Amino acid sequence: MSVPAPNHAENATDGIARAADLLAPVTADITVLDSTNLRIGDRAVSFQNSVIRFREDDGYNESFALQWKAFRLTQYDDRNGTSLTRDRYMRETGWPTQGLEGEVILEAGCGAGRFTSILAKTGATLVAVDYSSAVDVSAEVNGGVPNIVFAQADILDLPFYPGAFDRVFCHGVIQHTPDPAKTFHCLNAMVKPGGLLSIDSYLKDRKIRPWKSKYLWRWWSTRVSPERLMGFLTWFIPKWLPIDTLIKRLPILGTYAGAIIPCWNYFYTDLPPALKRQWAILDTFDALAPTFDNPVTIAEMDTWFRDASYIEYEVREGGNGVVGNGRKPAL
Ligand SMILES: C[S@@+](CC[C@H](N)C(=O)[O-])C[C@H]1O[C@@H](n2cnc3c(N)ncnc32)[C@H](O)[C@@H]1O
Repeated sequence: MSVPAPNHAENATDGIARAADLLAPVTADITVLDSTNLRIGDRAVSFQNSVIRFREDDGYNESFALQWKAFRLTQYDDRNGTSLTRDRYMRETGWPTQGLEGEVILEAGCGAGRFTSILAKTGATLVAVDYSSAVDVSAEVNGGVPNIVFAQADILDLPFYPGAFDRVFCHGVIQHTPDPAKTFHCLNAMVKPGGLLSIDSYLKDRKIRPWKSKYLWRWWSTRVSPERLMGFLTWFIPKWLPIDTLIKRLPILGTYAGAIIPCWNYFYTDLPPALKRQWAILDTFDALAPTFDNPVTIAEMDTWFRDASYIEYEVREGGNGVVGNGRKPAL
């Protein structure tokens, strides 16, 4: 990596030079041109708001850009007083929360960054990537943390060396990509021999479940603009929530009647009422707005790990539907 000579606007290039340093081990030769431009291999790349931009628009992830800018801190444990994200990370990955100094982790699809903050605390160098400008939210919230570099990039076109990462983490994302099997393939390519991959996805099965109500409505909700949908849900959900709670509390009938009108309802938690409303709007939008919603079966995900020759892998039901963890064989 080369940086401009001293005295060339040193302060202005501090951020970009640090980002380039962190990225250098996992990507092609980097040259910092000025405070907002780099060359990575033969590619000209910009650096804005502390994010290296391999792509510059939200594309099919427009709804996520809006969602995470509207609910920047909602899911951060230290802001909502829970340990939900940390618990999910530990339960679903089995990875440690500290002691990973010297490792390099790829977080693919970081969104607003609730997992970014947890992964960064492990001490590893963290490359946090998102397709959309949702990554700007994570970069702002986690910006002061020295071991993270942020990039806007597509998992299906990652600008990193194959096998560059000790660990690859991708939770809450695969089902929102156009082709989950292909997405797995691209993530797998990033894991070094002997490295670890942790993924999850929505689950495809034949059971009637309240969250499947979204599939009755997505024909409509993916056709209105994300802004209009967000406006509607911000008005509707607080009014509907008390009725939805009554329905969902009904034994047996609640499961079926609750699977008609989409409403992500956290009535069974200890969250304060204002947070319950906020989470209901956020998660109902998160279910209805994304362009892609491609759940997978446990058997499908199992096949991905098996066909990629993973060892010590496990695929099982998890909080988001199905979760898979495995180790790539060492060379
Ligand atoms: C439901 S959010 C999950 C964010 C975060 N992982 C979490 O659990 O809080 C899904 C994120 O995946 C991102 N995403 C979708 N397709 C992607 C792709 N092909 N490459 C990178 N990110 C993608 C979206 O922009 C969005 O921020």
